[in-house]
Amino acid sequence: MTRNPSRGQGPVAGSSPAADRPDTAVPRAGHDGTSGLDPFFTFDYRPLEAVESPVDGRRQTTYWSVERGCRGPEPLPEWVVLDAGAVDTELGVLKTGKEADVFLLERAATDGSGEATLMAAKRYRDADHRSFHRSTVYVEGRGVRKSRDQRALARKSAYGRAVASGRWAFAEWEALCATWEAGLPVPYPVSIQDTELLMEFIGTSDGVAAPRLAQSRPGRGLLEHCWEQVCGIVLDLAELGWAHGDLSPYNLLLHGEVVVVIDLPQVVDVVANPQGPELLNRDCLNVARWFTSRGLEVDAEELFGRAVAVAL
Ligand SMILES: Nc1ncnc2c1ncn2[C@@H]1O[C@H](COP(=O)(O)OP(=O)(O)OP(=O)(O)O)[C@@H](O)[C@H]1O
Ligand SMILES: [Mg+2]
Repeated sequence: MTRNPSRGQGPVAGSSPAADRPDTAVPRAGHDGTSGLDPFFTFDYRPLEAVESPVDGRRQTTYWSVERGCRGPEPLPEWVVLDAGAVDTELGVLKTGKEADVFLLERAATDGSGEATLMAAKRYRDADHRSFHRSTVYVEGRGVRKSRDQRALARKSAYGRAVASGRWAFAEWEALCATWEAGLPVPYPVSIQDTELLMEFIGTSDGVAAPRLAQSRPGRGLLEHCWEQVCGIVLDLAELGWAHGDLSPYNLLLHGEVVVVIDLPQVVDVVANPQGPELLNRDCLNVARWFTSRGLEVDAEELFGRAVAVAL
């Protein structure tokens, strides 16, 4: 099976692009009592409620109940189900973790089109039900040095505010949108609602998730190909001025022969964050160690040097 085609796809034929759809959400008041409208991006300061599984495993699609900025970037991949009457069915748990649980969700249209798609729903725990290891080290000195335009600048500030207030789901959302738009192999971010992030399911159409790189046993040729892809991911992140911050063979999925990077809430600014280079170096060492353990001689320091040169 092939991965959901994410890039280079226009909106679904015969359906309106997201921008034309009615946006029912009303901008909320900001923390300072102003209108709450960010010039570029609305950041929602409501207290967060942890999103729970639907009681009977089914719910209405959440796609149109969130604000426009909380829906994924365009062009939308053709597999995104836009039917306002679509029903989400929870099919099971993909992984429970310390900070978040990931569920398999099917979204099926009820408009007779027969459209249906699988998605991964990552639900962060609320503050009382998690043991969060991500620390403020990731927030330090988050800068705007590499911003290419005001939108990117707004993104970064929204990211900073999300991280500072512990809204890791939103931080991951921001990082996924930016990296997807930059062409990195990440799951397409479909939408964000409170603590729930909906994204492309990386796996087969019958619901088998792609293995993490750590669980895979690629032969020599594929191993080399994987290393090239991992180097590309590190360098493309560096191009954005970022390091993943928790890169390891557990946060890389092997989908067929394609390496997909996940779990991005803690991306760090390599230059503005005083610990950025150290975290980038750790990322390089973590992945290189795994490849070395599989018998491929790779050079973490060389990758680190190239990434630093790109980020500067
Ligand atoms: N988009 C996806 N498609 C398929 N599987 C996914 C997807 N996102 C996450 N998973 C599965 O869920 C696991 C946990 O996801 P993720 O690493 O984002 O969360 P986490 O809370 O950091 O978990 P952990 O603490 O185990 O790293 C992944 O290792 C992967 O197996
Ligand atoms: Mg993870």
